[in-house]
Amino acid sequence: MARFLTLLTVLGTTLRAHSTPTEAAPAAKLSYCANFDDLPENPGGFDPVTDPVMTYKGISYLGFVVATQQNSAEKYFDIPSQPNIINSGTQSQASFGGSPALQINTTVTGGPKDTFTLKSLRLACLVTNGAETSNANGCTVLFVGNRRSGAKSVTYEYEYPNQEIGNPLATFGTVTFPDNFKGLSEVFISLTAVQNDVLGVDPLLDDVCLSIQG
Ligand SMILES: *[C@@H]1O[C@H](CO)[C@@H](O)[C@H](O)[C@H]1NC(C)=O
Repeated sequence: MARFLTLLTVLGTTLRAHSTPTEAAPAAKLSYCANFDDLPENPGGFDPVTDPVMTYKGISYLGFVVATQQNSAEKYFDIPSQPNIINSGTQSQASFGGSPALQINTTVTGGPKDTFTLKSLRLACLVTNGAETSNANGCTVLFVGNRRSGAKSVTYEYEYPNQEIGNPLATFGTVTFPDNFKGLSEVFISLTAVQNDVLGVDPLLDDVCLSIQG
């Protein structure tokens, strides 16, 4: 009986601790930086049918393909962690319908209410002028995070600096997200080129650091 009462006391303390208004975020199920380097290398195109990222470590990278330094566009960039990055090309966007996005795949993570916290990522903008060129240039990147809770979306804008074209290789910027990029189900990424005479602008990503909460 004494042991039973002790158990009740412990449970009561635990329950009270959980119901305080300043409840701590649920413990992370998984926390990592994704460098995509264990994914199969892109054989040369940007075809999302042959090289989709799809779901990687619990997150679906919608509209992204795997790319390496050897690709026609990536050769202009200093890739942060070799060999792979992910690229949302114009073809991918057409196939996936609109802005590329990171979306939690709860089938993989196992909890239907799982969310993620986006901490940081490396990013470069790829500017294309038809089939002719694909060079680094400045761009404005808007991240829109939708909350699992249904609360108002969170936004964060990042300015990717203009880069020298050619030599040296263009560098990736580091995007560090504010603390409110948590409890998310998805994050959409949209880019606007600083220069207005280009046909398209796409994000290249590497080292995506996040945690998944259950
Ligand atoms: C989510 O994961 C499941 C199981 O692996 C997979 O069948 C499905 O295609 C994934 N969804 C997306 C959008 O990647």
